[in-house]
Amino acid sequence: MTSATQPRIQWLGRWGFLLAATGSAVGLGNIWKFPYITGEFGGGAFVLVYLACILAVGVPVMMTEIAFGRRGRGSPIDAIRRVVNESGGGSAWSLIGWMAMLCGFLILSFYVVVAGWSFSYLWKMLSGGLSGENVDDMVAVFVANNENPLNLGFWSTLVALLTMFIVGKGVQEGIEKNVSWMMPGLVVMLLVLIVYGMFSGGFGEAVTFLFSFNAGSLSSEGMLAALGHAFFTLSLASGAILTYGSYLPKNASIARTTLGVAAADTVVALMAGLAIFPVIFANGMNPGQGPGLIFMSLPLAFDAMPFGTLFGILFFAMLSMAALTSSISMVEATVSWLCDNKGLSRRAAAWGTGIVLWLVSTLAMLSFNLGAEWMLAGKNVFDWLDYLTARWMMPLGGLGTVVLAGFVLKSDAFREELGLSPLLYTLWLTMVRYVTPLGILVVFTDALGIYSV
Ligand code: PHE
Ligand code: NA
Repeated sequence: MTSATQPRIQWLGRWGFLLAATGSAVGLGNIWKFPYITGEFGGGAFVLVYLACILAVGVPVMMTEIAFGRRGRGSPIDAIRRVVNESGGGSAWSLIGWMAMLCGFLILSFYVVVAGWSFSYLWKMLSGGLSGENVDDMVAVFVANNENPLNLGFWSTLVALLTMFIVGKGVQEGIEKNVSWMMPGLVVMLLVLIVYGMFSGGFGEAVTFLFSFNAGSLSSEGMLAALGHAFFTLSLASGAILTYGSYLPKNASIARTTLGVAAADTVVALMAGLAIFPVIFANGMNPGQGPGLIFMSLPLAFDAMPFGTLFGILFFAMLSMAALTSSISMVEATVSWLCDNKGLSRRAAAWGTGIVLWLVSTLAMLSFNLGAEWMLAGKNVFDWLDYLTARWMMPLGGLGTVVLAGFVLKSDAFREELGLSPLLYTLWLTMVRYVTPLGILVVFTDALGIYSV
């Protein structure tokens, strides 16, 4: 049982936090979501706005969240409350913490479905069930995999069980060690796919699609999606990074760690784009296919390349691992809060959370079969969970976080936590006071249609 008098456990080793935070950040967001929303919103301009959001919003918010976590030494609710008590501000600000905790939970409830796809494709690769001649065959495989709720539910339940099992065991065991070999492994697999793509005939088109920034081609909705994705991909405003930050030793540099995580995450996303789009164009697929995009395209590449089965197995194994190092971070806030405030053991907190999670995730899973028609305003449960978290909760939570840190609290706490030179501190303060909030507000209000006549 943790109490305020006991020092909070901390990451083991010098690289502990960096590895865990990178493990949280790099996941399905990079390899599944980034390519498919880039495809949906038309490529280059979307990528440019996304990169701008990472720099102007993601990096400052991440630094601020880690500082909150380390200063307040607790889950988002407790940490924010403590920092507010110390540095001035009303108790209502801990609402940001509540929203973050809920957000992480809601994300996990659809993330397990996608991670379930990855696990089931690993199984198909291993058992030889993933061969096909063309796109239509691969689409059929994806559809068939979704059709049966017992099959799909098996895989999402497996992911939920694995997540809760790991979380129940505690933050220090396993995570750090796994990330250190899995991350390079994933990068190697993406390189294999990129090299293959260079010879597949779709590479030039892919590069043009991703990096020709013909402005004007991006809708307001696309801008909001890019902003939301910057939060999602860096695990922000969902309790993950803040709570991991609460285990960070005092002497670690918040700025350097943040830049490391953001850089790794961005590199993996761009590599994923370069790996996937050549396959899409070479096979005449529509880049706006939606959430099934990578599952319908990549198997074609593995089917055609030398040692494809081996590479496919390695790829889906590492994607599944990357998904797990992200999924465990999504409930860390909830579990940590339950342990600190309700006196539960980690194990009890994890399994308790897991039961509720399983119920919600089952609804998300059913969106691909029995519940496909359960629509509200054109969105099924899966879509709603994604939409509410990435387009609303995370940008709003991020906005609250920077406004609180930049304007409401006395600056001593952050000056001390961040430990920056005066110049860099001023840069951070300028970002969280003006650039980040304005960026979020402009994209937000634009999406609400305020600037259109
Ligand atoms: N950043 C993770 C990814 O890109 C997703 C995530 C979101 C993890 C929110 C934790 C919290 O896959
Ligand atoms: Na990510």
